[in-house]
Amino acid sequence: MLKKWTNRKTETDYPLSEEQKELDPHNIPNHVAIIMDGNGRWAKKRGLPRVAGHREGMNVIKKIVKRSSRLGVGVLTLYAFSTENWKRPKPEVDFLMRLPERFLKSELPKLIEENVQVRITGSREALPGHTREAVEQAVEDTRNNDGMVLNFALNYGSRNEMVQAIRQIYSRVESGEITIDDVSEETVASALMTEGLDDPDLLIRTSGEIRLSNFMLWQLAYAEFWFTDVLWPDFTEHHFEEALAVYQKRTRRYGGV
Ligand code: IPE
Ligand code: IPE
Ligand code: MG
Repeated sequence: MLKKWTNRKTETDYPLSEEQKELDPHNIPNHVAIIMDGNGRWAKKRGLPRVAGHREGMNVIKKIVKRSSRLGVGVLTLYAFSTENWKRPKPEVDFLMRLPERFLKSELPKLIEENVQVRITGSREALPGHTREAVEQAVEDTRNNDGMVLNFALNYGSRNEMVQAIRQIYSRVESGEITIDDVSEETVASALMTEGLDDPDLLIRTSGEIRLSNFMLWQLAYAEFWFTDVLWPDFTEHHFEEALAVYQKRTRRYGGV
């Protein structure tokens, strides 16, 4: 992280905000995960259809991605669609499934320029073809980038992830590749969809809901949590930096003293 921070261009290239100046560049969380919630309520408050909130939420993503990358965040995971979100009315689901393409159409060139690597965490099989193609293309086009990882949790659910991990480990044992005694925390972690990514250090959830909604139950074991009543479409870089500033004041003990 330190390397990345000191490698950034000069301050005149990327002017720093007042809040950012207060952040300790040596203590930027490596992995920040965000449960982006409140799009529907944001729209409802304005007498707009729920999808208007999703559209506005997409614009917030653009700003937060840019700010995270420039602050030196290593991984930014955005919970975009849960395995339970299929329960929503079909027009809303259809709209949400068009968002990755719309986002990538305008943002992919900028992500490439910014050296961001796109990753997808979740079951791809159930995604509509057009969604899957768009995200897989972005993953492919940014594969060799070594800046921030932008990880979209798309059709992601922690319990679903655990079930597939158990199946995978079982089949490795059954085939004789490993024995049951070889199964360790590392074995489990590498059977999860977040394989190769460090666990989140900071979890942010917007909209005032204080729950995980089936998000990264294993990976969040020692994350710091920060909740805000701000609805996702109203979330700004300022709120993001506030979360980071709070994170920097926390003492992480991991069970020690
Ligand atoms: C978050 O906003 C976006 C997704 C879950 C896809 P919501 O759509 O859940 O908005 P609220 O919670 O209904 O306000
Ligand atoms: C969690 O939000 C999922 C995403 C943000 C993608 P939800 O709005 O689906 O969660 P619940 O239903 O309020 O728990
Ligand atoms: Mg919600």
